[in-house]
Order: sequence, then structure tokens, then C-alpha cells
Amino acid sequence: MKNFTFYNPVKIIFGKGTIEKIGAEAAVHGKTALLVYGKGSIKKNGVYAAVTQSLKASGLAFVEHEGVKSNPVLAHTREGIKKARENKCDLVIAAGGGSVIDESKAIAAGFKYSGDVWDFFSGKTAIKDAMPLLTVLTIPATGSEMNCGFVITNEETSQKFNAASPCSFPKVSIMDPLVTITLPKTQTANGAVDALAHIVEGYFTTKDKDAAITDELVHAIARSVIAGTDRILANPEDYNARASMMWSATLALNGLQALGYGGGSFINHAIEHSLSALYDIAHGAGLAIVMPAWFKYDLKISGPERLAKFGRSVFGVAAASDKEAAERTIASFEKWFSKIGAPLKLSEVKIPAADIPKIAENAMGLITKWGIDCDRTSVEDILRKAV
Ligand code: NZQ
Ligand code: ZN
Repeated sequence: MKNFTFYNPVKIIFGKGTIEKIGAEAAVHGKTALLVYGKGSIKKNGVYAAVTQSLKASGLAFVEHEGVKSNPVLAHTREGIKKARENKCDLVIAAGGGSVIDESKAIAAGFKYSGDVWDFFSGKTAIKDAMPLLTVLTIPATGSEMNCGFVITNEETSQKFNAASPCSFPKVSIMDPLVTITLPKTQTANGAVDALAHIVEGYFTTKDKDAAITDELVHAIARSVIAGTDRILANPEDYNARASMMWSATLALNGLQALGYGGGSFINHAIEHSLSALYDIAHGAGLAIVMPAWFKYDLKISGPERLAKFGRSVFGVAAASDKEAAERTIASFEKWFSKIGAPLKLSEVKIPAADIPKIAENAMGLITKWGIDCDRTSVEDILRKAV
């Protein structure tokens, strides 16, 4: 088990009816909020009404920044920073999914910086300060509610890049599983695949294969995500399944999932981000295409041991040899992704195989930024396994 430092200061308020606490929590951090949300789901499912009533009851003023799109973009982020400055906001409230929370993190940091917010993503400068951010999560998926990372697409350059800073942890995240009942099945599936991908990245690229507690945590999160999703798809009103799913996705990327691994490569994310940057597909859908392809590619390099261990614990794979168990594990991922309606092939999201060189070229941007040992030809090889 490798050395680690774990730091996570996010206050989590979890459960039914908790959104009404947002006003009192926000009042601790400021007086005028920039209220950031997406394309309207929060107005249909009561989250908007609950948040705004609570803010008013606690005496907070707020200015709305709506219209954050899935795979949030730089231009809308810059508008948010401008609006926050014009209205002298002193905190940000994100009500939505990973896209809304990520754009809010970028606005909170960009507000405090005199240069262009893209400098944080290009690596030109580090984040030194940010407005306080509180979140009301509406979809289990990214873990953004309890981590300090965020992702924005520069629509001019087609770069979907991340930034991160200890300043960007939310102060408070409110998680009411009831509000996820209105999620369409495709978004439930996308979120589940993303949560699985977050634990897969560290588990399969660990620098220490004997970090037993973290391996066991990963197995438990994976089993919970799979069982929770199956229950939700069978009965969308199953509250305990919604609750378990929501917390599982948070645990999948709040730092705990990789302690003792000594770093992981996030190669599937590096490749997926080029798919969602170039074709604006959902992040989870892109990961469902990339992950099995990468497993098949990596099996020849890393050998079957980790895949076999994961499959035996998570999917109940019973094969005697590691080689057979590894192959059955990959097949189990594919079978389950298909069952929940996630795509497995590029053609299923209308991406032509002829575009593979262009996608690989784009992916090299993040692969280089993140220092991953993978060249363009290898990315092309991986993507060809998803044709
Ligand atoms: O825009 P609205 O109307 O709110 O609709 C959203 C959106 O269409 C809808 N939705 C959310 N909650 C709902 C709901 N619809 C009905 N009922 C609800 N309760 O779902 C759609 C997807 O929302 P989005 O926020 O885009 O999904 P997700 O949470 O998966 O976020 C994806 C973004 O996060 C980034 C991804 O790359 C992508 O840009 N990621 C962020 C990470 C992080 N900060 O740690 C890590 C991840 O690996 C990922 O890269
Ligand atoms: Zn992800």
C-alpha cells in the first residue's frame, strides 16, 4: 500500500427533504448567490422551487445563471463569471448534475482571477482562490459534489479539459435521493457507467496491487452501483436503491476509491473526453464504449490478474484460470452495459470508424497533459476494438 494524504472538507447533507436546508447553509458563506442550473429539469421536479424558497427564507439574494448544457462550455462559463461580477455575488449555488457543478466551480474560481478562466484548464496558471460553492445534486454520476475537480469544453478548440484545486471543493453538498426519481433511464445508465469508470481507472492502473482495503472498497462500490441500477430500472420509485446509488457514485470519486494505489492513469477518461468534446455525446455513454475496448487492449499488456480479481468479486465469475476469468469479466461488463441500454460501439452513437485518427489526435491533448504513457497509435488500436 503506497503512502497517501487524504483531504476532503466537503460537508454532506444527505436524505429526504434536505434541500430546504440550502438557505441556512448558504447564509454562513455569503449574502448574494449566483444560482447556477441546467436546461430546466429542476423547474419540473421541484428542486428550483425548494432552493429558491429556502434562499428567500434565509434572507439571501440570488441572481440566476441558467442554461448550463451537458458537457458545459467555456462561453457560458465566461458569461457566468461576468454575471457574478456585475451583481456583486459572493457565493455560488449549483443545482443540478456534474455539468452544472463543474461550470459552477469554474465560475467560482474564474471570478477571483483577473485573467481568462481557460488559463486554469490549459495549465497556464493554478487556482489560488474561489468563491464559496454549495451544491444541490440531482444525478448520481460524477462525484463532483465531493471532489475538487471540474471539466469544461473549449468549444473553439474542441478541448475538453479539467482543472482542480483544493479551493474548488464545495463547502456543502446537499443530496436528496428523491429528486433523482425524475431522471430518464438513459441518464441513470450514464451515471452508473461513469461511477464504475471512476473506480475502474485507479483499480486497473494501480502502482500497488496489494492495497487490500481499497480493492475491497472498489468491489463494494461496483456491486452497489450495479445492484442499485438494476433495482432503479426495475422500479424507478425504489427510494433505498436511489439513495444507495447516489452515495455510491459519490464514493466512487471522492478520493477514497484510490487511496494507497499511488496514482492511476485515467486513460479511459482521456479517450472519452475526446469523444464528448468532438461529438457532444454523454460522458457515461462514451465511457461504455471506451472501457471494454481498453480492457481488451490492456489485457495483453497488464495480464489477466486484476480483471480476474475484479470479476470474481463483482460479477461472481467462477472460472478457474485467471485468463478465462479476465475474459469473462470483460464480457460481463459488456453484457451489463447492454442490459442497461449503454452503447458499446462507436457506430451506436453515430461516430464513423474513419474518424478514429482524429479522435486519437484529440485524446493526445489530455494524455499529454496528464502524463499518461500511451501513444496515438495505441489510442487508435483501442478505439478500433469499439468499431
Ligand atoms: O440540464 P437539465 O435540464 O438539468 O437536465 C440534465 C441533463 O440533461 C438531466 N438531469 C439531471 N438531474 C436530473 C435530470 N433530469 C431529470 N431529473 C433529474 N433529477 O440529466 C442530464 C445530464 O446532466 P449532467 O449534469 O450533464 O450529467 P452528469 O452529472 O453525468 O455530468 C456530466 C459532466 O461531468 C463531467 C463530464 O465530463 C460531463 O461534462 N465530469 C465531471 C467530473 C468531476 N467534476 O469530478 C468527473 C467525471 O469523470 C466527468 O468528467
Ligand atoms: Zn467520469
